[in-house]
Amino acid sequence: AVTSRMTTVLPEKKEQKIVLGFSQLGAESAWRMANTNSIMEAAKELDIELHFSDGQQKQENQIKAIRSFIAQKVDVIAFSPVVESGWEPVLKEAKDAGIPVIVTDRAVDVSDPSLYVTYMGSDFLEEGRKAGKYLLDKMAGRSGPIRIVELQGTAGSAPTIDRKRGFEEIIQQNPDMVITKSQTGDFTRAKGKEIMEAMLKSGGNHIDVLFSHNDDMAIGAIQAIEEFGLKPGKDIIIVSVDGGRSAFQYMVDGKINCIVECNPLLGPQLMQAVKELEAGRILPKRIVKSEGVFTQEMAAKELPNRKY
Ligand code: AHR
Repeated sequence: AVTSRMTTVLPEKKEQKIVLGFSQLGAESAWRMANTNSIMEAAKELDIELHFSDGQQKQENQIKAIRSFIAQKVDVIAFSPVVESGWEPVLKEAKDAGIPVIVTDRAVDVSDPSLYVTYMGSDFLEEGRKAGKYLLDKMAGRSGPIRIVELQGTAGSAPTIDRKRGFEEIIQQNPDMVITKSQTGDFTRAKGKEIMEAMLKSGGNHIDVLFSHNDDMAIGAIQAIEEFGLKPGKDIIIVSVDGGRSAFQYMVDGKINCIVECNPLLGPQLMQAVKELEAGRILPKRIVKSEGVFTQEMAAKELPNRKY
């Protein structure tokens, strides 16, 4: 005999999307644009609802954004802090609200490490050391003072503090190397040009090396050097950090001597971490990107591989 069974069809339960609030610090460089694109694309790919806010280089805007993410009760907050210090109160508010925080790209200086779950990004100290090591080799055997000018990134930011420290730590091995001028160009092309112009005016023929904390400032400085009538990469050795496609083209053209890589493509790793957090997994406190150093000899071969 055939028995008939009643089946109840339940309405399909819609999976709730994970909501991520991300506070980006600004849009100051090619690196930053690539970083933002990487985060947006990866969120789409992994079906994470992204609430994105641009802090326009102001800490107060980023703090406001984080407060609004807390009010919206997002599942996870991530942010790239414009400067290192001053985050403790707002991070405490997120912790009290039970919302985990991921720090990306730049570090925060907090006395209580439980205020964030993980920090993912580059090792800026090592980047500064790599720039210093390149210069030590490049200038080996050269006698007399080696006068270096430095274009620093945003004052008080982790990459500025650490790249400067790492670079100085290494170049002190050669007592002939002296940093004659060091100023902040805020990681932008326009300021890089403006400051380099001023540095050249007050002693252009006494500059042997430019250490620029990023590509954008280096490119701005190259314009200033050419307008001053000197040859970038020859009259002035240029070492930069980041490794975007346009800076690589400058290296192929012989105008930048060395680029220390800093990888902005953090999106996939960040979204993976968000998913893992939501699945209840514990993340390592520090996730570091592995990065290379490129010189003019490798520039043409590497150029097609650059992703931004
Ligand atoms: O924090 C990473 C730095 O910020 C990059 O080197 C720079 O280009 C960016 O603005």
